[in-house]
This record gives sequence, C-alpha cells and structure tokens, in this order.
Amino acid sequence: MKLERTFSIIKPDAVAAGRIGAILASIQEAEFKILGLRLTRLSEAQARGFYAVHSQKPFFEGLVKFMTEGPIVVMALEREDAVARLREVMGATNPANAAEGTIRKRFATNIERNAIHGSDAPETAAAELAFFFTTADLI
Ligand code: CMP
Repeated sequence: MKLERTFSIIKPDAVAAGRIGAILASIQEAEFKILGLRLTRLSEAQARGFYAVHSQKPFFEGLVKFMTEGPIVVMALEREDAVARLREVMGATNPANAAEGTIRKRFATNIERNAIHGSDAPETAAAELAFFFTTADLI
C-alpha cells in the first residue's frame, strides 16, 4: 500500500495537561513517521479559518474559544493508510464512545475537549498540512 500523509493537532487541553509526550509515544508506536512538528498557538482568525467547515455548527464559537485558549502541537505524519490509521489511534470524536487504549479514551474530557485532531480524508489532510507547513518544512 502507498505511503500517505495526514495532519494532526495535540489540542490545548492535552498540552496543558502535560500529555504531549504520551500522545507522541502512541503515534510513534503506531509507526507513523513524523515529517513536521511544531508547538504553536492559534490566533482567533486562524482557528476560524482552520475550522471554517464547521462555521454554521452550534458548537463553532466554543470550538474557536477552546482551540485558542493555549498552545497546541501541529504535526505532519506519514505511513501507509495514514488518515484511517491515525483515526484508529485517536479513537472516536466523543471519548464516551472511544475504544480502550485510544488517545481520546485516555486523555479527552468530552466531545469538544478531546485532546487530538486528525484529518478525516486524504484531501482534507493535504489542505490542513498546507495550512500549517510549507513543503520545505517537511523532512
Ligand atoms: P476535530 O477532529 O478537531 O474536528 C472538529 C471538532 O469539533 C471536533 O474534533 C470536536 O472537538 C468538535 N466537535 C465536534 N462535534 C461537536 C459537538 N457536538 N459539540 C462540541 N464540539 C464538537
């Protein structure tokens, strides 16, 4: 199977709780190659832009507030079937539905404060990677 790239964010709740190391360990145990990695903080405009697809959803304003409350870690990841595999490692969006051992089961608080983001399709991954990384950034 062909190598694929995906994009991920360790969200403000997980960074504040000191979970960067544990989450990176889960990702590396799942045999992702880290092509890019950066600690950063979203401006309100960046958060609105990144989550524009959700702008009409009732949870949008809360999501923007949450994603700008503190530092995040943005990552460019690669392996076979990367999008689907990362979603398995993350677990369901709502941690109440997440499988044992997944990142969200271990570290998420609720459906909004859910520790990690991962792209939902290869096309989304390409757009999300380009939002945070230039081609020259990726190893
Ligand atoms: P994420 O994978 O980053 O993509 C969109 C985010 O919106 C999602 O994770 C959740 O953090 C958030 N989200 C999705 N559905 C809801 C919901 N029903 N209520 C609050 N937040 C939500």
